[in-house]
Amino acid sequence: MNVLLVGGGGREHALAWAISKSPKLTKLYAAPGNAGIADVAECIDIDAEDIRGLCAAVTDLKIDFVVVGPEAPLVEGLADKINAMDIPVFGPSAAAAELEGSKGMMKDLLAKYDIPTADYQRFDEPDAAKEYIRVKNHPVVVKADGLAAGKGVILSHTLNEAYAAVDHIMIEEAFGHAGAEIVIEEFMVGEEASFFALCDGTRAIPLGGAQDHKQVHDGDHGANTGGMGAYSPAPVLDDAMQKQIMDKIITPTVEAMAKEGAPYTGVLFAGLMITEDGPKVIEFNVRFGDPECQPIMSRLKSDALDMLHAAATGNLDKIKLKWDKRAALTVVLAAKGYPGKYRKGTVIKRVEDANALDDVTVFHAGTALNDDGALVANGGRVLGVTALGDTVAEAQKRAYAGVDAIDWPEGFCRRDIGWRAIDR
Ligand code: AMP
Ligand code: GLY
Repeated sequence: MNVLLVGGGGREHALAWAISKSPKLTKLYAAPGNAGIADVAECIDIDAEDIRGLCAAVTDLKIDFVVVGPEAPLVEGLADKINAMDIPVFGPSAAAAELEGSKGMMKDLLAKYDIPTADYQRFDEPDAAKEYIRVKNHPVVVKADGLAAGKGVILSHTLNEAYAAVDHIMIEEAFGHAGAEIVIEEFMVGEEASFFALCDGTRAIPLGGAQDHKQVHDGDHGANTGGMGAYSPAPVLDDAMQKQIMDKIITPTVEAMAKEGAPYTGVLFAGLMITEDGPKVIEFNVRFGDPECQPIMSRLKSDALDMLHAAATGNLDKIKLKWDKRAALTVVLAAKGYPGKYRKGTVIKRVEDANALDDVTVFHAGTALNDDGALVANGGRVLGVTALGDTVAEAQKRAYAGVDAIDWPEGFCRRDIGWRAIDR
């Protein structure tokens, strides 16, 4: 198979690395890819959101299968366009991608099918939203309906904070059109975890749990980021909890989407709150998490290309996944200043020393080669140093040995990735 992988972050490097091991692969292309992906794929200079360019490449390069990493092109209908060319694609249709693309639609679906999530209401004008907040009179979460690069969610502890959140989204239009509608929901208390399942339109099979670290500094302090590190499996999601999540959340959602005429294919990423009343959905994403994809792919022992293709073609009943029993943990190395302003183009050395360590793999998230052929930083999150270990603590030790082998004075990382699992 000739495969086109869409995207150029750490998630896509992990996918490219896994796909490249498949004996069924003829040639792997990545659009746009990055300097690490270039080790296992031919990178082509097409943006992940350039739907026309991507469709043209599918024809020109005689692509047999497309794997889409990020959500934006899915919400824009990339999978529909590729499917219309009779080429299988890993990733949901635009209608199914609304699970991530519209929080209101997602909440309505869960309510209709009795799938556990926080109580909520949708609003398209601020006065009614504020009246609801006033009557509820307890902490709420205010969310822009549409895609807001992970920033459209405001946790409000007081009435005034909640009113200000409504104004910020609806009147100041902080997230543009994504905030034309909002969802206001009950504040849930519990431990957060992520769960991933592969879906083929009618079936779902688990890929396991993970936990991310959203804040930029140790101890979960500082600004929110795309994720500073992750590990899988997550001890909070033990076998019994995973079964409950499959039975009460994932399978009913896949069945609901099929009933609604928007069958879900690809990976369903459930952001969950493990509350006293069991797991509840915080959000759905229609793609792998980044960095969560890196530990998940590191643990996969089965053929990744087979697995993704089976999900895309309605054949999940024909595969059985094998996993490394060990834990995997990823530490993100970011450019100093991230998630605020940071420099690009600083030189990174000795990545090969980290890769030479036992069970350590360095995935590239935002890298490029400069004119001298040196590896340079080309984004906020730059590398994902990933290690396997018998326990999360052991994987953590190995990952930090990898981090310490890398010579990049302009980079930084959190030093406590995995703390929740290790404390437990
Ligand atoms: P989201 O983008 O919907 O995942 O929200 C971002 C973050 O806000 C989540 O990772 C949670 O930490 C928090 N959050 C969102 N919704 C709720 C809720 N209903 N209750 C408590 N925390 C929430
Ligand atoms: N790491 C969180 C996400 O990919 O949304």
